Amino acid sequence: MTISSNSALVMHNRFKSMTRRFRFSPRRRQYCVLTTAVILLMVVLGVVGYLLSGMHYCFDVLVEWKISKICNQYYTNEVTGYMCPELCAGDTISDFHCPPATRTPEYPFNPNRFLARKAQQFVVIKHAVPDASYEKLSWIDSHRQEEHYPTEAEYVGIVRRYIELRYNLQLPFDKLNSLLKLKNKNNHILFHASMRNSWNLIQNNEYLLSRLYEEKEIFPLVVGTCGELFLTELLETVEFDERRYHFTNHIDLSKWRYHLKVAVLILDYLDDMSQNRFQMCSVLLAGFGISDSRMKYHDLRYISTEAAIDRRLSDGRWCTMDADCSYYDCRSRCNATSHQCTAGLLNNNLQIVCEKIFRGTATEPGILVTEKSPNRLLRILERCSHPVSRSDVDAARPFGASKTLKKQLYNELTSIYEQLASSLYS
Ligand SMILES: *[C@@H]1O[C@H](CO)[C@@H](O)[C@H](O)[C@H]1NC(C)=O
Repeated sequence: MTISSNSALVMHNRFKSMTRRFRFSPRRRQYCVLTTAVILLMVVLGVVGYLLSGMHYCFDVLVEWKISKICNQYYTNEVTGYMCPELCAGDTISDFHCPPATRTPEYPFNPNRFLARKAQQFVVIKHAVPDASYEKLSWIDSHRQEEHYPTEAEYVGIVRRYIELRYNLQLPFDKLNSLLKLKNKNNHILFHASMRNSWNLIQNNEYLLSRLYEEKEIFPLVVGTCGELFLTELLETVEFDERRYHFTNHIDLSKWRYHLKVAVLILDYLDDMSQNRFQMCSVLLAGFGISDSRMKYHDLRYISTEAAIDRRLSDGRWCTMDADCSYYDCRSRCNATSHQCTAGLLNNNLQIVCEKIFRGTATEPGILVTEKSPNRLLRILERCSHPVSRSDVDAARPFGASKTLKKQLYNELTSIYEQLASSLYS
């Protein structure tokens, strides 16, 4: 008993002297400060890394702040646009918010896309933020420190050459004029502002494609602009049952019909794409949407003309493997002798859609791989994802699927669809 109380006393004393030493030793104190500093630094680095690592977060408050900033610029005549009065009055266009978080992790998040409501409809607001390749329109002379702008005729020429160089497209004169729609030609401050905004928008791939191909109805329709902002229609997303990922799962007849219908609409869309010689380089099911019963693709950041994609892929970059020469789903090859990307595009839209949307993978089957899919369809999908035989391969693109194969797939889908319809009504 005494022994244990004695030892407790000893322990207590030892503890006391320890805390005293801890409290008063300058070395300990230094150590403490250092540890706290390191922990704080790690927290700060963690937050910064989190923000920089592509984990973008969108906050509704920031969207409102961005809009009000642009409206302030509108009130001080720094920006112009047909949509500005409506956007800034705050009654017809309202309810600015972030897009819902996308479920797919590989989805390239667009930090410059927001949603709003215009009258009773939802619209998309896109911010044409200047990127690395942005070119300024005005220049400042070093002598008088004055800002110089091109004249209207010069500006039209600049835009025409820009589109020619970037997309290999020759625009007719009226097309160019309807694209530009410059305003306030008598007030040079407003005129320069409208030219600046127009130039900003034109260098945005999404804006330019939507505007240039308005009457083809293949891209979301632009409903207005204000400064660097442009508004487009919001497409109705194609909805799919998440449970289809379970390969053996039963699929309802009505759902199967919906899958077939969407697949046919996507094939029709690919016809539009090839007619206009467009290449899609990041294709996701979530990117497709319906507007007035027409299929469209909403994210135009990775769509361009075939000529532009060819040039981009064969820019002579240094490479060690084929993947170094690819651009998202657009594939090319690395030259093993020169270690340069020089081959251009090797696959095509149909192959990408077959592989990623229709066929999918074992863990995430595509929309046409269900327990109701006939073997014949599955075999066509296999050939279309990895075309090998001469008749299956696109003549111009060695990894691409051919038009013949597309026709076969189309016929197969429509015949399955018709069979379902006739069995339904018999
Ligand atoms: C690879 O580059 C070399 C040297 O530039 C060239 O001779 C050869 O034809 C290229 N090979 C292919 C497959 O393009």
